[in-house]
Amino acid sequence: MKILLIGKKGLLGHEIVKTFQNAQTHDFMALGHEDIDITDQETVFRLLKDLKPNLVINSAAFTYVDECETKKQFVMAVNGDANGNLARACNMIGAHLMYFSTDYVFDGTKEEGYNENDAVSPINVYGESKLRGEQLIQQNTDKFYIIRTSWLFGMNGANFVKTMIDTAQKKELITVVDDQIGKPTYTIDLAEGVYNFVQNNIGNSGIYHLTNEGITSWYDFAKKIFEITKIDVQLSPVSTKELNRPAKRPYISILNNNKLPHLRHHHEALQDYLNHLL
Ligand SMILES: NC(=O)c1ccc[n+]([C@@H]2O[C@H](COP(=O)([O-])OP(=O)(O)OC[C@H]3O[C@@H](n4cnc5c(N)ncnc54)[C@H](OP(=O)(O)O)[C@@H]3O)[C@@H](O)[C@H]2O)c1
Repeated sequence: MKILLIGKKGLLGHEIVKTFQNAQTHDFMALGHEDIDITDQETVFRLLKDLKPNLVINSAAFTYVDECETKKQFVMAVNGDANGNLARACNMIGAHLMYFSTDYVFDGTKEEGYNENDAVSPINVYGESKLRGEQLIQQNTDKFYIIRTSWLFGMNGANFVKTMIDTAQKKELITVVDDQIGKPTYTIDLAEGVYNFVQNNIGNSGIYHLTNEGITSWYDFAKKIFEITKIDVQLSPVSTKELNRPAKRPYISILNNNKLPHLRHHHEALQDYLNHLL
């Protein structure tokens, strides 16, 4: 199978490239932002026509949640409309399209967590834009895989774990929000999950949830980071309201993985990541 990944320099894209290149089981190509702007419809159609992949994996997006609030038009174009372009181009050449979406398409009020077919209702611009991506894909092709994931951490880019460790070098007291809960997910595990998905599920279009196992709050996740690293720092819990970030955040960001097996527990994944990082 010929696979084209877009977004090769991102937190997740980078790991997907490594996983597929190591496996050497597919004809695998990867493009970065310098090679393709997914909002440029003409380039998207031309490149897909030339490269003729059977599967396009789109890991490109604008992911700065707070910044999204003041850049709505731009963000809707990158995370939303561009995926309509990609879906139409994939449809034209008969390729499948894989798109990564987020827990932020939900409003965060469902205590049992969210199933794949639950009603969506984003509460910030980032969530709205990712939902628009989901919708435009489903409107423009039958051959799609929407994979919702959450709270990514990994080697190639900024993430909560790195931020905690960096902050601990500068501050003795770190305040961390304790009333948002979710499922941290390690990009290496997710990339492996994507690889297994491609091996086992091709043809089964639909919406999937894929995360590491285990639910935590950002505060408890931070506690775990400092417990594993034995970094001596004082943590202080803060509420979402007190923190008052530009973008609203869902309180309950639990994606139930009903269609795919969970990735391993995030504690184990975190331990591996910290072994790599430090
Ligand atoms: N990070 C999370 O916690 C999280 C959680 C749930 C879902 N997701 C989803 O998972 C996917 C991967 O996220 P990530 O954290 O790996 O993102 P990321 O690290 O921000 O990487 C996104 C990549 O997309 C590229 N890009 C941005 N605009 C582009 C455009 N118009 N054309 C082509 N490339 C463009 C960026 O390049 P430049 O840097 O050069 O602009 C960057 O390399 C995204 O769909 C995201 O919405 C992420």
